[in-house]
Amino acid sequence: MQFPPEVLRVLTDPRTIIRDDKVGVPFEIDRPVYEQMNKVLKEMGGAWDGRKAVRAHVFPYRIEEFMRQCLTAGEYPSKYEQGWFPTPPSLVMQICDLAGICAGMTVLEPSAGSGAMTREIARRGGVVDAVELDSRRAEVLREQGDCRRVMHGDFLDLDPLDYTEEGFDRVVMNPPFAGGLDHIQHALGFMSDDGILVSVMSNGLMWWSDKATVEFREMVEEVGGEIEALPEDAFAVCGTNVRTCLLFLPGYAGSRLQTYDWLLRQPRQLDLFAAA
Ligand SMILES: C[S@@+](CC[C@H](N)C(=O)[O-])C[C@H]1O[C@@H](n2cnc3c(N)ncnc32)[C@H](O)[C@@H]1O
Repeated sequence: MQFPPEVLRVLTDPRTIIRDDKVGVPFEIDRPVYEQMNKVLKEMGGAWDGRKAVRAHVFPYRIEEFMRQCLTAGEYPSKYEQGWFPTPPSLVMQICDLAGICAGMTVLEPSAGSGAMTREIARRGGVVDAVELDSRRAEVLREQGDCRRVMHGDFLDLDPLDYTEEGFDRVVMNPPFAGGLDHIQHALGFMSDDGILVSVMSNGLMWWSDKATVEFREMVEEVGGEIEALPEDAFAVCGTNVRTCLLFLPGYAGSRLQTYDWLLRQPRQLDLFAAA
């Protein structure tokens, strides 16, 4: 959900205090603007505390870093709009540690949002390419300037062999929860044989009983990967209690993961119509 322009102006005013679990506006604003802001902050999980010593919207969690991400993106996740849940900073750290990202590694973030993960990957010296479906978020990623390449488009439409000349060392992702497994399986095609993929996903990945999910879990076990439940409040900072898990999928030569190198080894279809 986009911030109404007047609310964005107030929240990015240098006088506004966004600290720990509180958002306070210590200057006069018009009543209609206050009402709009109150509505937005409530949708994000805050509640007005009018006591003289507080006079701020108070959140049940630390809002500071998260609000910074939202204000940069110009939008916030609300209970009325599912889909964009920027990965909270502590989880970003956990993902980058698990993926073992270090200087010089090539990293793909295939549903990059407004760059919660690309920022940390670049800070660790990773060379990161990002894909994002939403044009405004893709623009935020470009402005942020920490990616080698930002592509605006549908990741599921990209052919790995057209997109890159070699597989990525790492793939880290927090794809949309609807169709998350499709995103993960497609992303494997961008990873090199000895790469590692780490992804957040709906914790249904741990128990869904449909054929695709069951086979996927078998494959994860076979290659020595892991699926670990994340704490129930992992995304509380985004105002949602969606339950999630973290997938760790290590590649190695000879595994049956359908990686970039695996795709390269497949016989290419003869182009019967190519000019002689
Ligand atoms: C759960 S958010 C996560 C954003 C980011 N990865 C992060 O960790 O903060 C999912 C993002 O995937 C994007 N997205 C959804 N479908 C996509 C697709 N088919 N191709 C690329 N991006 C997509 C959404 O616009 C959204 O920004």
